Amino acid sequence: MAVEEIALQDLDPEAFIDEKVREIAAAVGDGTAVNALSGGVDSAVVTLLGHRALGERLRTYFIENGLMRKGEPEHIREVFAALGVPVEIVDARAEFFAALRGVTDPEEKRDKGITQVFYKDVFGKLVRDSGAKFLLQGTNYTDVEETVAGVKRQHNILAQLGIDTQAAYGYQVLEPILPLRKSGVRAVGKALGLPEEIYSRPPFPGPALAARVIGEVTPERVALVREATAIVEQELADSGAFQYLAILHEDRVTGVRAGRRDFGRQIEVRCWDSTDAVTAEPTELPFATLRRIADRITAEVPGVVSVTYNVATKPPSTIEAV
Ligand code: XMP
Repeated sequence: MAVEEIALQDLDPEAFIDEKVREIAAAVGDGTAVNALSGGVDSAVVTLLGHRALGERLRTYFIENGLMRKGEPEHIREVFAALGVPVEIVDARAEFFAALRGVTDPEEKRDKGITQVFYKDVFGKLVRDSGAKFLLQGTNYTDVEETVAGVKRQHNILAQLGIDTQAAYGYQVLEPILPLRKSGVRAVGKALGLPEEIYSRPPFPGPALAARVIGEVTPERVALVREATAIVEQELADSGAFQYLAILHEDRVTGVRAGRRDFGRQIEVRCWDSTDAVTAEPTELPFATLRRIADRITAEVPGVVSVTYNVATKPPSTIEAV
């Protein structure tokens, strides 16, 4: 890999911030840049670095792709408004769901359903309309490592796969946090003044809830996994785990509700202990916690009759399901 990793123990967050702010300002010159804020710690850190470097010459968009957590677009806009950073919400739900229609293969979902729509259609248009020549993006060291190793095509990896973004999409990509892993990004986020709620947030994948729906991603199926995710996040917020999530399975199973057969849906809960997402172990959650999650999901998420907990490690599992 062309870029060198900065390990947490070698990271001086303030010096890193100064260096990256200078680099962004020098690269963009007197031009303008855009970036997409998803609400995750990576894009949040890049938004603040870009804002420090460029001020109003950075336009920050939240792409509402229909795949985000409950209430997320408005919440993130409010958090950043309080930090003095205006965020424009772009409604791209129709484009994403149209591209995801009928797609079940995981890599096709990531590439055709998310990467192409995001970079080419939605962002390509925003960049063209705004006249910006640069996109700031929160790719980190682990994203590149896993994509280059062929584990999973992370949605945001472009140059490292030999994609010329200037030719393919009409803009250049700047990736200030490329040398950092998640723990380093969190330290920089804290030093930048992000609220703890944001810098200590569990990771959330770029393809969002599409990475947690096995089989076709439809608005209805995303709505189910969104509800289950909200329950898992509420119940495990104090677990101290690295990441916790809900997955909607494609297969149905026979259940019984009010004395009648109910051929219902299955939700899988995952909760991981990890430091860098490269390897991970299932968290030893108390059984009562698991039971409470199952009770809530079967009561609150329509049609769910089965809730399972993944006890495999990564590898050979991965953290997300897709
Ligand atoms: P996996 O599922 O590969 O996930 O074990 C490792 C970590 O990366 C997150 N993840 C992604 N992040 N774009 C991202 O920005 C992606 O396409 C993507 N896929 C997975 C995942 O949530 C975990 O923290």
